[in-house]
Amino acid sequence: MRVIIESDADAVAECASGFFQSLLLHKPDVVLGLATGSTPIKLYQKLIQKFQQGLLNFQQATTFNLDEYVGLEIGHPESYRCFMQEQLFRHINVRPEATHLPQVESKNLLRQGADYDEKILAAGGIDLQLLGIGSDGHIGFNEPGSSLASRTRIKALTRVTRQDNARFFNSIDDVPKLSVTMGIGSILKARRCMLLATGPAKAKAIQAMIEGSVTARVPASALQLHPDTIVILDPDAAKLLQFKDYYQDSELLQRELESTTTET
Ligand code: PGA
Repeated sequence: MRVIIESDADAVAECASGFFQSLLLHKPDVVLGLATGSTPIKLYQKLIQKFQQGLLNFQQATTFNLDEYVGLEIGHPESYRCFMQEQLFRHINVRPEATHLPQVESKNLLRQGADYDEKILAAGGIDLQLLGIGSDGHIGFNEPGSSLASRTRIKALTRVTRQDNARFFNSIDDVPKLSVTMGIGSILKARRCMLLATGPAKAKAIQAMIEGSVTARVPASALQLHPDTIVILDPDAAKLLQFKDYYQDSELLQRELESTTTET
């Protein structure tokens, strides 16, 4: 795992946007895995800015979002489709038909998960999967106890997650109880994963994810098994890491190495 600790949330977003930028440059028909929540908003703002400056082009890109709530009416402002539309899609030139979220309107919800995984496969697989982390250690809506090999499927939300997300609704009772989420096994198939976390509320989950055991109790810890995961943190989210100095030293060396490799 490559752990990058930036000076603040803005620098986290800037750093993450750099990875998106170089990927899009090398592979214009990239397949991006996208995430919702408060954390990626700053990154999306950077991507929009870079698009407006002519530095990014999403014309050939395809996107797959991690998850969607079940039970909200179509067009509900808190649905993840609306979130993505507002926070990113309507500001850039991605083709609407190339943006995918799990379908939750269908009567055959049980089939939807497998269909979503097949669609990702047919698109060539995800090149870069963006992730946030829940205070309970979830990725997507893979709550503690989720199988580390799980595929896209219906998943119940924990009370902790519903409480965390209640800030977007009138009350916790309005927060959906179900979602369709990419499974942990589906996420691990991405060629690269990039997890962003900011703020002290994420510090415990981040410490458990990076330095704890691989366990279904902390779904994000499954990323320890992924060959190419980048974690970008602000100091608050990184504050409980035991090997923080080592990650910072390694990152300096990595950057040194990258600059000499590109110079020659
Ligand atoms: P947040 O959510 O970015 O709103 O904190 C992250 C998540 O639950 O995965």
